[in-house]
Amino acid sequence: MLMPKKIHHCVNVILVWISIIFISSYVAGQPGPVKNGHFENGVVVCASAYGAQIGADILKQGGNAYDAAIATQLALAVVYPQAGNIGGGGFMVARNAKGQIQALDFRERAPLKAFRDMYLDSNGAADLHKSQDGVLSVGVPGAVAGIFGMYKYARLPFEKLINPAIELAAKGFKITAAEAALLNRFKKDFERYNDYPVAFVKKTDWQQGDLLIQPELAATLKKIRDQGASGFYQGETAQSLVETVTASGGIIGLKDLDGYQATPRTPVSFDYHGYQIISFPPPSSGGLLLAQMMGMIAPFNIDTMGFLSAKAIHIMVEAERRAYADRAKYMGDPDYFQVPEKELMNQHYLAARMKDFNPQKATPSSAVNAGNVYEHNETTHIAVADNQGNLVSITTTLNGNFGSRVVVKGAGFLLNDEMDDFSAKPGVPNMFGAVGGVANQIEPGKRMLSSMCPTLVLKKGQPYMVVGTPGGTTIPTSVFQTIVDIIDYGKTPGQATEAPKFHHQWLPDQIMLEDGLPVAVTDSLVQMGYALKTVNGIGRTEIILFDQKAGGKASPGKIGMQAAADIRGDDSLAGY
Ligand code: DON
Repeated sequence: MLMPKKIHHCVNVILVWISIIFISSYVAGQPGPVKNGHFENGVVVCASAYGAQIGADILKQGGNAYDAAIATQLALAVVYPQAGNIGGGGFMVARNAKGQIQALDFRERAPLKAFRDMYLDSNGAADLHKSQDGVLSVGVPGAVAGIFGMYKYARLPFEKLINPAIELAAKGFKITAAEAALLNRFKKDFERYNDYPVAFVKKTDWQQGDLLIQPELAATLKKIRDQGASGFYQGETAQSLVETVTASGGIIGLKDLDGYQATPRTPVSFDYHGYQIISFPPPSSGGLLLAQMMGMIAPFNIDTMGFLSAKAIHIMVEAERRAYADRAKYMGDPDYFQVPEKELMNQHYLAARMKDFNPQKATPSSAVNAGNVYEHNETTHIAVADNQGNLVSITTTLNGNFGSRVVVKGAGFLLNDEMDDFSAKPGVPNMFGAVGGVANQIEPGKRMLSSMCPTLVLKKGQPYMVVGTPGGTTIPTSVFQTIVDIIDYGKTPGQATEAPKFHHQWLPDQIMLEDGLPVAVTDSLVQMGYALKTVNGIGRTEIILFDQKAGGKASPGKIGMQAAADIRGDDSLAGY
């Protein structure tokens, strides 16, 4: 069975990164990636060493975790254009020093002119090219509204947080071999979707160490610095965005931009083996899937079954399969569709979902449907923690690599292709192979269903873990396995990021898995009836784990934090 197009694509990109990372590190002028570290004052983990360093510098200057997260996110919009962005959207889950939790939704929205069947051709077939590439794939960006929503909890002047990004855009930064390879690979797309010069294209091929200078992006960031969110949603930037999109038949208007607001949400929160897991609610499926998968495996005591044993993987995969079947039917934007959140997380419901679990055999997906809920009626993750107890977990995305590949003319930033996260037609898989129906059909102003899963874990109300990853539909399963690896199997953050991940999303009926499992384990899974599809990389998980006791003689009273940046890319961390 074929791997969904975008997962295949993400995997290839990750493979390029893995193969090149070892020669691309430590290019003069670039901080090299740091994968593991222990800190007492604060730490930032993200997809780029520049981003991590800029965030850590903000912490050192007296900023809190929110300040650092904002500075890192803005830096990633410059140095990590394939996913870092101001033209996309995302989610933040955070906890402040007083113990208050926030969940901020800055997901893109469908333009007001969008309609249910907008991607169907005259024969009623879904034209996924339109939902995945070019101007019609673009959702109304939420990232800048999100940044200003987060800024309410920050403490430094905004210009301090954005100036490093402006400088990197204006003066340029030296790209790695992996970045050069990626830009070369997407050159044709950039040329196809932009009939004007863009910073990502030059005549000759990009080489490791070339300077990527983005003067137009620097000018746009200056507008945001000087005018706030209106520097993006109104005035010249908004005008340029609308002109760029409508010139090629797109449908975003000034009203869409002017009306965009980030929305506070009530996070998904549940207990797993005595830990409080806090994650993102709809319009992400991430938090609910996590709650369902963890709720389904909780009674099985998988810690007694051996780490990555066939027995444990079998239980986890069956939980994944059943949760993703529910995703397809019940999850969508709660402002447009009543998502039965409580029912989907109910312990009796989850126990009933596993009733037909057979310890010897895979359950075919054809025998699994969404449960009966009785109702009353290329992405990137940033993990930040400081020594005050502020924790910030942000996952943000353009969707595919470089999103729609459309760069706003004169404004230098990439637009997302998030519209593909809607269900273009019931049962037709999107770029991640996910299917959906009414819950996630296109409606004007609606937010498309996501899998992003920025997550916090608390223990007795105190900080325990900050975790998240990119990876499309594989996001919730990677976060699920990471938490289980740490809580149930006592793995370190480094071991948990490195552990091979496995993913089942109901349809297609297969386990997608990374290399690294013993042959005896994969053989057992095949014997149980699973189709296995080996892939080269699932997710890029960033983790911060708090020590369980104060720091001993060297630093009495201080609780340290152990952090790990994923080895699958140039991901890096910095702290002090
Ligand atoms: O919101 C979502 O679920 C997707 N748009 C995320 C895309 C992603 O993770 C791409 N990364 N490999």
